[in-house]
Amino acid sequence: MTEEIYEKLSSLIQLDIDAANAYDQAIEKCDDALVREHLETYKEDHQRHIDELSAYLTDYDMEPPEEKPDFKGVLIEGFTAMRSVTGTEGALKAMRTNEKLTNKKYNEAMDWDVDLDAKDIIMRGYEDEKTHLIYIEEQLSVRTR
Ligand SMILES: [Fe+2]
Ligand SMILES: [Fe+2]
Repeated sequence: MTEEIYEKLSSLIQLDIDAANAYDQAIEKCDDALVREHLETYKEDHQRHIDELSAYLTDYDMEPPEEKPDFKGVLIEGFTAMRSVTGTEGALKAMRTNEKLTNKKYNEAMDWDVDLDAKDIIMRGYEDEKTHLIYIEEQLSVRTR
């Protein structure tokens, strides 16, 4: 694995770590039980992405990033927004910002020059990310109508 690919996959793992942390905060703020259930599932998806991508790096004897949030990372805006958030709608809005960035990054990752195993992990992850964003946008559109 080239250094460039290692850096790229590490940054994708870090993004999933940050997204999972953002979901933790969103789940706390969310007072709608059904929406919260969805957010919990999405957090688990991110956790699975972290685990699969980390296992892939480990197979190549490369060290995956530690599972701690990067407050200087790309999701910083979403974290900051989360602090002042109240209620389900606020939580959904903050996660919309985060998921837009996550979807953009996964979309870029589809073009990375990686082997089929990594491609498969990224492709399945991207499908999850699309599902997350679609649900959040649907919920916001019915709530703000
Ligand atoms: Fe992910
Ligand atoms: Fe997501």
